[in-house]
Amino acid sequence: MENTPRKKIAVFISGGGSNLKALIDATKMRVLDAEIAWVVSSTKKAGGLQIAADNGIETFVYRPSKYESAEAAADDLLSKLRERKIDYIALAGYLKLLPENVVHEYSNRITNIHPALLPKHGGKGMYGHFVHEAVLADGDKESGVTIHLVNEEYDEGQILEQTRVDVMEGDTPDTLAARVLKQEHKLYARVLNKLIKGEYGLE
Ligand code: GRF
Repeated sequence: MENTPRKKIAVFISGGGSNLKALIDATKMRVLDAEIAWVVSSTKKAGGLQIAADNGIETFVYRPSKYESAEAAADDLLSKLRERKIDYIALAGYLKLLPENVVHEYSNRITNIHPALLPKHGGKGMYGHFVHEAVLADGDKESGVTIHLVNEEYDEGQILEQTRVDVMEGDTPDTLAARVLKQEHKLYARVLNKLIKGEYGLE
């Protein structure tokens, strides 16, 4: 019974990779009953690549501009995912769009983490400090974390879970980001685990 192979997750990053680290730790603690089998980065400068290497996880820098065409790039990414028998894709600070063939093949098996309460403060250009600046500029009393599915509509995929975080008097984008990030690290592993266990009733 304990011999069922663990599901394989590919984590896609563009930056520091603190969410990647939290996911790796969660697999060790079995909060996330899966294997982080591959880390894909949109840039070789992402700090998260070192975190992957330190944990013996294979990495790949995916640069579509290095291929003859966008189609060739997308095909290569999809075959690499297939070769590794990746079951799920977790976007964790990945700043690029996934190719359509990948989104299609992994329908209901791609998640994204967003550092605010979608549908507010989402969409193009809303990432990193821009999100927290927008929350403060709007005078919101709360912000939080959203984990959602990624579909063809992109930022509009089904919301799986949210955690609310109070906005405090005197918050700056940095202090708010830090408080939200703490919750991101807790929520993402739990949601992925539920998704893998079929607890969202998706196929
Ligand atoms: C996180 O705030 C995540 O919500 C957003 O990008 C940031 C990535 O941080 N999508 P890290 O690279 O995981 O530290």
